[in-house]
Amino acid sequence: MLDIEEPHELIDYLRATNRIARDESPQIKVLGGGVSNRTVLVTRASGEAWVVKQALEKLRVKVDWFSDPRRIEREALAIEHLSRICQEGSITPLIFRDDANHLLAMAAVPEPHENWKTLLLRGDVRDEHVEQFAKLLACIHRSVIGRRVHLDPAFSDTSFFESLRLEPYYLYTAEQVPEAAEFIQALVELTRSRHITLVHGDYSPKNILIHNNKLVLLDHEVMHYGDPAFDVGFSMTHLLSKAHHLEPHREKFTHAAELFWQTYQSSLPKFPVVSPESIAIQHTLACLLARVAGRSPLEYLDGAERKRQQEAVVKLMHNPPATMKGLIDDFTEAVSCQ
Ligand SMILES: Nc1ncnc2c1ncn2[C@@H]1O[C@H](COP(=O)(O)OP(=O)(O)O)[C@@H](O)[C@H]1O
Ligand SMILES: [Mg+2]
Repeated sequence: MLDIEEPHELIDYLRATNRIARDESPQIKVLGGGVSNRTVLVTRASGEAWVVKQALEKLRVKVDWFSDPRRIEREALAIEHLSRICQEGSITPLIFRDDANHLLAMAAVPEPHENWKTLLLRGDVRDEHVEQFAKLLACIHRSVIGRRVHLDPAFSDTSFFESLRLEPYYLYTAEQVPEAAEFIQALVELTRSRHITLVHGDYSPKNILIHNNKLVLLDHEVMHYGDPAFDVGFSMTHLLSKAHHLEPHREKFTHAAELFWQTYQSSLPKFPVVSPESIAIQHTLACLLARVAGRSPLEYLDGAERKRQQEAVVKLMHNPPATMKGLIDDFTEAVSCQ
């Protein structure tokens, strides 16, 4: 099997498949960071740059964790769909795909760019970024509702969402935190029954690069047809967990969480009919807990913070706030005063 992280193998492959000329020698740079994929930057003499992404079967984590590498095919489909519906520049165009080698190539986001998570952890929280983050999500969610957009039937398959999200985030957490089990299991059942629209499934600041102050969204392998409230809870969790962790910047992050929710909602006219606020609140609570007690805890939260977040969330699960604003206030208060 081809290993794209071996520069000579990758160059031979690109030449043999006529992606580049036989005598062309592009620059190759292995991009670190991913645990479930290999990503390699290929810069051609013309200046054109691609990122080649190859799905791994065995993820690079401490415990044995396997995932079907055919999820890269889902990502290729998602790039094609999102490129049609999202604002130009917010999705990296697909250059080619090779299902047999479990890889695809997309346009590289031009330099200079920064990962949004890195910016946020520095306390650099800007309204314009938060608004774009909310609008881009709303655009994905409304893209197929009430429209005659062709959606590949592959998006109806939720097996990647099951194995990469519901099991490691929700069901595993329910086992670890028995007080939360009923809440989470009910939410899992509800989620499995709701086939509302296209869901990204990995909508996180880590998967956003910022170039010229514009957000570019990456990493679509969990995209499926399901419950959009999952994406809301997943992304809210990143803003609220940073509000918890970064005490000096707490107000900026609570403001960002409110702005995200308001902008998202106002970009989805009539959407509350299909996606009630109460379900987004449930997903926010479940994800806040999953990111401290699930298989993939947020690395920046220390033991004391994880414990505090777990206690705050379990309490809120017993009597969930009626509004997202209420949840933001209650969560922040609970983690501040302990
Ligand atoms: N098109 C791209 N342009 C520039 N950098 C990219 C691109 N695609 C991926 N990367 C870099 O590689 C990292 C991992 O890619 P990602 O698609 O998020 O894979 P993973 O599923 O492993 O998280 C990103 O965080 C980013 O830094
Ligand atoms: Mg990623």
